[in-house]
Amino acid sequence: MPALDIPGRDRLIVALDLPSVAAAEAMVARLGDSVTFYKIGYQLAYAGGLPLVRQLSSAGKKVFADLKLHDIGNTVARGVESVAALGATFLTVHAYPQTMKGAVEGRAGSGLKILAVTVLTSYDDGDLHAAGYRLGVSDLVEARAQQAQEIGIDGLVCSPEEAASLRRTVGGRMSLVTPGVRPAGAAAGDQKRIMTPARAVAAGADYLVVGRPVLEASDPKAAAQAIVAEIAQASA
Ligand code: C5P
Repeated sequence: MPALDIPGRDRLIVALDLPSVAAAEAMVARLGDSVTFYKIGYQLAYAGGLPLVRQLSSAGKKVFADLKLHDIGNTVARGVESVAALGATFLTVHAYPQTMKGAVEGRAGSGLKILAVTVLTSYDDGDLHAAGYRLGVSDLVEARAQQAQEIGIDGLVCSPEEAASLRRTVGGRMSLVTPGVRPAGAAAGDQKRIMTPARAVAAGADYLVVGRPVLEASDPKAAAQAIVAEIAQASA
């Protein structure tokens, strides 16, 4: 089980969902040594933030490149090679078999771990049906998790609610990374299925992705430290 070996501080991933590199750099400076792991997603990556992956990893931080790749296998493999060369620790791809096989090929020989997104958490059964799928969310999540494991994917992004059943499906070798985490009393925002850090850890999550409860706190460093303390206590 990966979680047992990871110090609490390294299990919090702060999502740098910010509009500019300057804003991201200011937040990283403000958080200081309270945060060791950052996520860079569409907003920052497409605002010139991709070089931050190399910058942060050179500064000793870990970076989750949440780029959710999906293309023909060869294109995915070559793209993943490029992300690996930036020094990222995690990279997301959509959980389609060709895409996942390409990603596993592309990360070979590097330290990059590939996370598969099974079904986006904003999708319900009706959305899948409208997109032409026969399976509902829970069946598709399970099917894709099994495929991911067979293909050699390193971990899954899932809602905290899915973590316990996915842990049973994939066993202890894959990392489970969960957004939708809210400390008690924090605003849910647009997240529909939330859990506290302690409950997410108890459900089997290895890494917790938290954005707004840290970014929008009056004291972001104190907010991050409180989440780390809760993770550490829940896993003791
Ligand atoms: O601000 P908040 O804590 O809700 O941020 C959660 C982060 O996790 C965002 O960057 C969001 O894009 C990401 N995420 C998510 N749900 C998923 C996948 C990623 O909330 N299923």
